[in-house]
Amino acid sequence: MGQLLLITDDIQRGRRLLRDLGTRRPCHVHDLYDDAMPALDPALIVSDVEALTSEAIVRLRRTLAQLRDEGVPYLFLVHGNAARSEAQAQVLGATATAGVSQMLGALERLQGASIPAIVRMRAAEARQFFQHALFSGQPITPVLADAGTDLVVRAVCDTGIYDWVRAVQKFDDATHQHCLLVAALAAAFSGALGLRPTDRHHLTRAALLHDVGKVHVPIEILNKPGRLTHSETVVMRTHAECGHAMLVGAGFDDSLLAAVRSHHEMIDGTGYPDGLRGREIPDFVRLVTVCDVYGALIERRPYRTSMSGPDAYDILQSMTGQLDDDLIRAFKPVAVAFKPAS
Ligand SMILES: [Fe+2]
Ligand SMILES: [Fe+2]
Repeated sequence: MGQLLLITDDIQRGRRLLRDLGTRRPCHVHDLYDDAMPALDPALIVSDVEALTSEAIVRLRRTLAQLRDEGVPYLFLVHGNAARSEAQAQVLGATATAGVSQMLGALERLQGASIPAIVRMRAAEARQFFQHALFSGQPITPVLADAGTDLVVRAVCDTGIYDWVRAVQKFDDATHQHCLLVAALAAAFSGALGLRPTDRHHLTRAALLHDVGKVHVPIEILNKPGRLTHSETVVMRTHAECGHAMLVGAGFDDSLLAAVRSHHEMIDGTGYPDGLRGREIPDFVRLVTVCDVYGALIERRPYRTSMSGPDAYDILQSMTGQLDDDLIRAFKPVAVAFKPAS
């Protein structure tokens, strides 16, 4: 269980709060006015600052900047003026606010939402690699793609799909989030299908690269908060052919190239770019498409919350005729994994 850090402007009150909380979680109380920063990697942060002076806010912001990793829940305890506290909490990026008497319930809710530090670290590492090596605009080689794939496969094996997806859902760049989600789903799906490690690697690699052509789509379209217009959709749809063109002749095999070009093809012929139908769409491509559709459904965007795993699976099931029915059924164990371990 990760450490709880309580930042307080009254060390005695802070200690009392933790004692009353009676948690078995390791805790550390940090005095807001102590300039020495503790060497910690907390999994949960609570601030207990009664006198919200401008100096206190500056100190709080500095402490959080140093000790709060991305995705770590932060509970802001409200003393006195609720409206002012709420506004400050928002500016400081608090996950939740609560009065002192509601602290226990608020913490229980936050603890359920916390992501283990190791998972956050592995996800950040994969994102770095994805951003700087795979999606930097430089040519993509099989060696680079293999290294990125190994990062994802190992992370999903070690941390499980549930925590990985929650960590990746925190990423604000839509394409990084999407590709790392789809790759992780492919790794988990391969496991559910009982594929050999080489086939698992192969499928995960295709999923990681499937949207590589989006480097040619303007960022305003990729990250647009809302529905695309017709002309924006036309531009967005070029990514499948662009990605294929980027990878042809770079040493990738035909099945990967087909997945990049054809992952938006539908069995009923309504997909793009080539309007393939039925058996014209290879099984390998169909596998990537199922992961792609499910990944898009569970993505988190600033303007909407992510769909729950079971709800997303209901939509997948409703796409019978467009997606491969056998693969939809086979995907169920992956979708079922989208609930917290009890
Ligand atoms: Fe795509
Ligand atoms: Fe995609």
